[in-house]
Amino acid sequence: MPGFADMDVETIWQNGEFKDWDDATTHVLTHALHYGSGIFEGVRAYDTDEGTAIFRWDEHLDRLFASAKPYDLDIGYSREELTEVTLELLRREDLESAYIRPIVYYGYHSLGVSPVDVPTETAIAAWPWGAYLGDEALENGVKVMVSSWRKHASSQVPTNAKTTGLYVNSMLAGEEARRNGFVEAIVLNKEGNVAEGPGENLFLVRDGELFTPGLSESILDGITRDTVIKLARERGYTVHDNVAISRGELNTADELFFTGSAAEVTPIRQVDNVEIGNGSRGPVTEELQSAFFDLVEHRGDHDEWFTDV
Ligand SMILES: Cc1ncc(COP(=O)(O)O)c(C=O)c1O
Repeated sequence: MPGFADMDVETIWQNGEFKDWDDATTHVLTHALHYGSGIFEGVRAYDTDEGTAIFRWDEHLDRLFASAKPYDLDIGYSREELTEVTLELLRREDLESAYIRPIVYYGYHSLGVSPVDVPTETAIAAWPWGAYLGDEALENGVKVMVSSWRKHASSQVPTNAKTTGLYVNSMLAGEEARRNGFVEAIVLNKEGNVAEGPGENLFLVRDGELFTPGLSESILDGITRDTVIKLARERGYTVHDNVAISRGELNTADELFFTGSAAEVTPIRQVDNVEIGNGSRGPVTEELQSAFFDLVEHRGDHDEWFTDV
């Protein structure tokens, strides 16, 4: 994965100011560094036919504000202010397409676990980022491993809040998979049913219908998941979006694919040692993947999902 040092981006917005990239720093005694007490978003802006536009920005803002709630994090900026600075950032950097990372976290004051009196810091960065799991993955699919690490249950932490600290679970699962020669992991929930990928939701295709774990299965309520559900229904597919999927159903699926703002729509061609379907991108995955990429390029009937830069 290319590092920031290779990128030609100069500005980050932090706590109300546009700063030089190297100056957007935080103290080592920042609360969030010690306790994972931050929330964030991962958003993409696409180079559409009508110019650069942020995809589903409103829904990402909705989730950012919802994620803040359980932690009593005061974002300190309105939706309008965050929108304005994000658009300004993209314009300043002249980015035609970008990955956008807003983050809000408990900052520097004292190191008790209690965040009372700890100020909130808010930052937004954006940079060019290609296919998360690689271009080849989009076409041929990825090999994934069912992780030995289970997803935290929503009775332990709010799994529907996109919280920085929760991503140690994603890191463990993903690295375990990669050390074993796979590209990505699938993480089961506490009950042993399929939850999601480390940074992706999961869809299963069986007999021409789509299935994806319901929100009570300890998943993040993915915005790409929602996009794909809508695109599939518009194309006449039946989508079961409130189901439990057992581990065994992965092996017998006709097709499997991941969705995510970073991963977009990525086919899964193998789970552990089992080839899925015919071991390559299946026809339903291909149709929905091209519907997705068509949408983010040409907007189709969903102009309301785009915020022009
Ligand atoms: C754990 C997890 N699940 C699912 C997703 C997919 O969500 P979205 O489509 O909103 O990016 C992500 C990525 O944000 C994630 O980190």
